[in-house]
Amino acid sequence: MKILMVCLGNICRSPLAEGILKHKLGDDYFVDSAGTINYHEGSHPDERSIRTATKNGIDISRQKSRPITKSDFDKFDLIFCMDKNNYKDVLKLADDSQKHKVRLILDNELEVPDPYFGGIDGFDKVYQMLDESCEIIAEKIKNNTI
Ligand code: 4NP
Repeated sequence: MKILMVCLGNICRSPLAEGILKHKLGDDYFVDSAGTINYHEGSHPDERSIRTATKNGIDISRQKSRPITKSDFDKFDLIFCMDKNNYKDVLKLADDSQKHKVRLILDNELEVPDPYFGGIDGFDKVYQMLDESCEIIAEKIKNNTI
């Protein structure tokens, strides 16, 4: 099972989601992340995301931003998007037969808010939301119920 986390820049939210889900799933699964834009390609995660992850015992400092590509839809089984704009942009790249792999990471149409232009507490909030949703996702993946 291979899981891809997607946000806009792949420097704030999806690197955290990647780190958290990896931490919960362990080495038997492949977890990666990507952005819908290539503006930050090659950059490490935002310092604030790195700090928030570190505080929670997770090291995301070696990740590097990359844009999502068409080949990701073949490679990955599940693609989780942080907000509705990401979801819309990702779906545009998918063939019809691949669209079922694309999901919003939160249930009930909720979104993980973009923390980029805010303060550090926005990152803590994002961390909590992702930790809760990744806990549910990890359980479902392990139980084969997703
Ligand atoms: P992310 O946050 O999508 O969670 O990585 C952002 C990163 C960069 C920008 C916006 C959001 N930006 O405008 O460059």
